[in-house]
Amino acid sequence: MTAAQRTFVMVKPDGVRRRLVGEVIARLEQKSYDIVEMRLFTIDETLAGRHYAEHTEKPFFSELVSFITSGPVVAMAVEGPEAVSGCRQIMGATNPLQAVPGSIRGDFATEITFNIVHGSDSPESAARELELFFG
Ligand code: RTP
Ligand code: MG
Repeated sequence: MTAAQRTFVMVKPDGVRRRLVGEVIARLEQKSYDIVEMRLFTIDETLAGRHYAEHTEKPFFSELVSFITSGPVVAMAVEGPEAVSGCRQIMGATNPLQAVPGSIRGDFATEITFNIVHGSDSPESAARELELFFG
């Protein structure tokens, strides 16, 4: 059996506004991943800055922070085999126009800022983000 891994997944404000929380959870669960912690709340600017610290210098940083703080998110700890890469696969490519049909972003989005979900990109990011949101 592949060892269980824990990752951080978040339904972003556009996903909550569009009532896609159930859809996202269903897709994770149908793959056999477990939701082990979950929290609905609105991210403040401090947490947004810490979560997106790697993007501080990027041209899209201010748009990213104003979007991610624009309404409630659903933050989750998700557990199962290869959860980090497995959840990213379920989400699809960052740019929804490049995300394959069958993935969350491929099926529900067209714009890179409004791409419905976040998933940690490595086990190290997962540990950092889980501590930030659930520690
Ligand atoms: P995420 O962190 O949200 O799971 O997405 P990701 O790893 O696939 O992409 P990342 O490079 O970490 O970017 C974080 C989020 O920033 C927005 N973004 N906008 N305008 C742009 O060129 C641009 N590039 C990235 C996206 O919403 C992306 O999910
Ligand atoms: Mg990322």
